[in-house]
Amino acid sequence: QSGLFTYDPGFVSTASSKSAITFIDGDEGVLLYRGYPIEQLATRCDFMEVCYLLLNGELPDSTQKNQFVTTVKNHTMLHEQLVKFFGGFRRDAHPMAVMVGVVGALSAFYHEAMDIADAIHREESAFRLIAKLPTITAMAYKYNIGQPFIYPHNDLGYTENFLYMMFATPAEKYVPNPIIARAMDRILILHADHEQNASTSTVRLAGSSGANPFACISAGIACLWGPAHGGANEACLNMLEEIGDISRINEYINRAKDKNDPFRLMGFGHRVYKNFDPRANLMRETCHEVLNELGLHNDRLFKLALELEKIALEDDYFISKKLYPNVDFYSGIVQRALGIPTSMFTSVFAMARTVGWVAQWNEMISDPEQKIGRPRQLYIGTPRRDMPKS
Ligand code: SDX
Repeated sequence: QSGLFTYDPGFVSTASSKSAITFIDGDEGVLLYRGYPIEQLATRCDFMEVCYLLLNGELPDSTQKNQFVTTVKNHTMLHEQLVKFFGGFRRDAHPMAVMVGVVGALSAFYHEAMDIADAIHREESAFRLIAKLPTITAMAYKYNIGQPFIYPHNDLGYTENFLYMMFATPAEKYVPNPIIARAMDRILILHADHEQNASTSTVRLAGSSGANPFACISAGIACLWGPAHGGANEACLNMLEEIGDISRINEYINRAKDKNDPFRLMGFGHRVYKNFDPRANLMRETCHEVLNELGLHNDRLFKLALELEKIALEDDYFISKKLYPNVDFYSGIVQRALGIPTSMFTSVFAMARTVGWVAQWNEMISDPEQKIGRPRQLYIGTPRRDMPKS
């Protein structure tokens, strides 16, 4: 109580207070999308089926899936004027900076998306976002490396099309490696949604004002970029490169424990999980599988990560604070094995999380009782009443 303002701790922003999409039990290390365990979805479904599930609440039958995939394919291209946007950026711009700008600019091309009260328009925006994010992500990469844009090829599946747009060039024939495509598809599933994390809450809060979905997703991308959130996968790989050798692990473990050192173990810890992040376990398994299948089983960074995890999980500091590997700890190593450059790791995360953001946004907007989110603050300033007599 500051005397001037009373803080109502019970106040909850109505933008993020309830949802039927994702359930997390942080103590038990449980993650469910629409009630299904992530372990089953990641090994028995593909990303398009998981997108359908997150948006509609049920897994699709074959007819529903074909219809969904066809509709997504109808929206994979960008308006040519929007393609010109990329040319305004510096070539060395971080891909996330480009994605924030280009995704937000979609608002300038689909005016009907402003009418968020119309469920048909909301569905159209959902399809456009899910379909165009891979195209925008791949174009951000091509622009960064100075190669020509590769337009989507709708003969390919969703994930294969993304790999094609990322790695094909006009000069060479490119056929996505099925091992890489399957691993990438699993990475997208593992990143698809995660309850009210910082970026999803950002999307909901932005959406609660009635802003159009493209602007809201652009806000989510901006929030995800931070190294404490989605930027941790890129930061984690850079950290592993800096550690370089197993002999230096303890030096970095000690730095992470030192309160006077701002260094934190990237890819470790979580606000909700006080047990293993189930996605980290699945990501580690994917790492093993992919590296073995690609003949990279002696990958030095993977060995370093495994040893770092082992040492940290035997350390009293990490045990007492219940710090376990999170989704970002192994995702960078897997993406690197798939040929994704480090600078693109967080962009891939944003591309995957778009379906979760859209599903959460749509759930909120569809709620007739939904109001604008309005968190309050505990005022800790000086309780004044009157100005001094002049
Ligand atoms: C994601 O919310 C989500 O769901 C996010 C996400 C998603 O899918 O959307 O799961 C994706 O963002 C995963 C997190 C990726 N970030 C990182 O890996 C960055 C490194 N991790 C940390 O910065 C940290 O763990 C956070 C930001 C993730 C959580 O920070 P909190 O909320 O402060 O964690 P906490 O309260 O559980 O920390 C408890 C203690 C603190 O010390 P004390 O105040 O008790 O002295 O543990 C310390 C923290 O300082 N701590 C760490 C640490 N993480 C927490 N110490 C060293 N290294 C770490 N990584």
